[in-house]
Amino acid sequence: MNDLHSPGHERYDRLTQWFHWLTAATVIFLFASAHIWENLAKGTDLRRGLQSVHISLGIALAVLIVLRIVWRVFVGTHLPAHGSPATRLLAMLGHLALYGLLLAQIALGFMFRWAQGERFEFFGLFAIPSPLATDHDFAHVLGGLHDKVAWVIIILAGLHACAALIHHAVLKDPTLRRMLPVPRR
Ligand code: HEM
Ligand code: HEM
Repeated sequence: MNDLHSPGHERYDRLTQWFHWLTAATVIFLFASAHIWENLAKGTDLRRGLQSVHISLGIALAVLIVLRIVWRVFVGTHLPAHGSPATRLLAMLGHLALYGLLLAQIALGFMFRWAQGERFEFFGLFAIPSPLATDHDFAHVLGGLHDKVAWVIIILAGLHACAALIHHAVLKDPTLRRMLPVPRR
């Protein structure tokens, strides 16, 4: 029987899975890149390069999250979470918090760059014009918030990943499997 249709073996559709894993990889890269460049001397090419890739992938993440939410709301597969009502509520709140924090982080990232008054380009292909005046004090405040929200996202995503692994290895339910592609036979 087709994995997609047998009860208890439903999977998220392909695009939902792509959106999920692309978001996860991008968020981890954005976090790691910032913590690598913080340890590099100011003005080095590698530091500037990492900052510019961070900003370009940040723009890509903004597009990805908007598309992901539109897909989720209007088209994508919806599957009920496994576990007790309390666990299901916790999972729903956790997912909502991740979406909210990602949107907040994107807004902070854009405002941070605008307030810095520096080049805001997507891999050198096009520039995003700034609706804000350059304001270094405001940029400093936004940078502090962007850094704190980054930590909250990484900690919450880490707990979320642990929950997925517990579902898989301890509770032995299909929660993790349904976010993975159907294995080739
Ligand atoms: C979940 C996604 C993201 C994470 C985890 C993340 C993380 C970080 C961290 C930890 C820093 C260093 C902050 C500091 O110490 O001042 C940083 C800097 C920065 N981020 Fe992000 N960020 C994300 C998304 C974005 C987005 C969407 C944009 C906008 C396109 C963006 C633009 C920036 C800018 C402009 C800087 C400062 C670069 C510089 O110093 O010149 N970030 N980010
Ligand atoms: C930065 C990293 C990550 C972010 C931002 C993230 C975000 C999300 C979000 C927002 C959802 C809710 C999907 C929806 O119903 O619309 C979700 C679902 C899911 N995530 Fe992640 N995730 C991350 C990493 C991971 C990792 C590393 C794993 C596995 C070890 C994982 C496993 C899952 C699973 C299995 C689901 C489906 C849960 C269910 O069906 O109830 N995620 N993720």
